[in-house]
Amino acid sequence: MSDAATSRSAHPDRGVPSRGAHPDWGVPSRGAHPDWGVPSRGAPGTHSVAVVGAGKIGELLLSGLLRSGWPVGRLLATARRSERARELADRYGIRVLDNLAAVAEADVLAIAVKPQDAAGLLAEIGPKVPAGKLVVSLCAGLPTAFFAKGLPEGTPVVRVMTNTPALVDEAMTAISPGTYATGDHLALAEEMFAPLGRTIRVPESQQDAVTALSGSGPAYFFFLVEAMTDAGILLGLPRQVAHDLIVQTAIGSAIMLRDSGEHPVKLREAVTSPAGTTISAIRELEAHGVRAALLAALEAARDRAREIAEQA
Ligand SMILES: NC(=O)c1ccc[n+]([C@@H]2O[C@H](COP(=O)([O-])OP(=O)(O)OC[C@H]3O[C@@H](n4cnc5c(N)ncnc54)[C@H](OP(=O)(O)O)[C@@H]3O)[C@@H](O)[C@H]2O)c1
Repeated sequence: MSDAATSRSAHPDRGVPSRGAHPDWGVPSRGAHPDWGVPSRGAPGTHSVAVVGAGKIGELLLSGLLRSGWPVGRLLATARRSERARELADRYGIRVLDNLAAVAEADVLAIAVKPQDAAGLLAEIGPKVPAGKLVVSLCAGLPTAFFAKGLPEGTPVVRVMTNTPALVDEAMTAISPGTYATGDHLALAEEMFAPLGRTIRVPESQQDAVTALSGSGPAYFFFLVEAMTDAGILLGLPRQVAHDLIVQTAIGSAIMLRDSGEHPVKLREAVTSPAGTTISAIRELEAHGVRAALLAALEAARDRAREIAEQA
């Protein structure tokens, strides 16, 4: 392995920018559909946001907004259990209210309960949601029409699907408008999620596919890293060494994919020499049907999102 390959700076022949060289580092804009547009990371907002049902994903949103400079006084949360309410208040210094108080006070309601809890929540708060208040659903599978049924006529609903890399401000969040959501409502939802990573607008009809691909996506990569670490152990590497090798390889590969603009096939071909080691491994991946397994896995995740909606 050459020195260039092991240093942090980019390989000079690959045209991959180094961390220092890229003026927009951390503000990715590539890959968006040209008609939908992708805003850059937003400035801290002027609206108040209540995270209704602040569990894992709700907490990711709250902590990301706070890291981005969203004023603590403009963030509220609700919780079902009093211990959870205390935990959130102690950890973030935010006010944790009951659902109806949050509904009355906040400009935006970010619904972050599990899909199976959404109907119960909607029965409680739906009739009390003041007209025109923006409802942002983070719930997998549930269409905006599901919320519209329990909300006053004309309530704008925006559906988002984010993912857990929000924890490190590298989320992928897809945003779709419901019937009454305007461009301003979408822009406000983007302002909330842009600090957590990257946002993209998609038609709502694509949200179940988004859920399968990027919503659940981090789990597939963690699964792959776990399996590759095991493979390293099989080849005689200590677990920690195997883990470090594959995690940095994943980070480097992801940054190349994001920033080089090259098709993944081209990037893979660049490390696949004739009669070399990589092609031997690729042959095994193909022989074991890894590509077909991924297609089937994502289809199953998409179908499960549809089932969740039917059961809610
Ligand atoms: N986890 C992910 O990777 C991921 C990714 C994208 C989207 N999502 C979506 O995000 C949503 C939340 O998922 P999660 O993993 O964060 O679940 P979670 O950790 O269970 O969080 C949901 C929270 O809502 C609370 N809650 C339930 N009903 C309530 C009510 N009526 N009033 C107030 N609080 C209530 C729950 O209280 P208890 O603590 O008492 O249960 C829990 O703390 C889901 O709809 C999921 O589809 C998740």
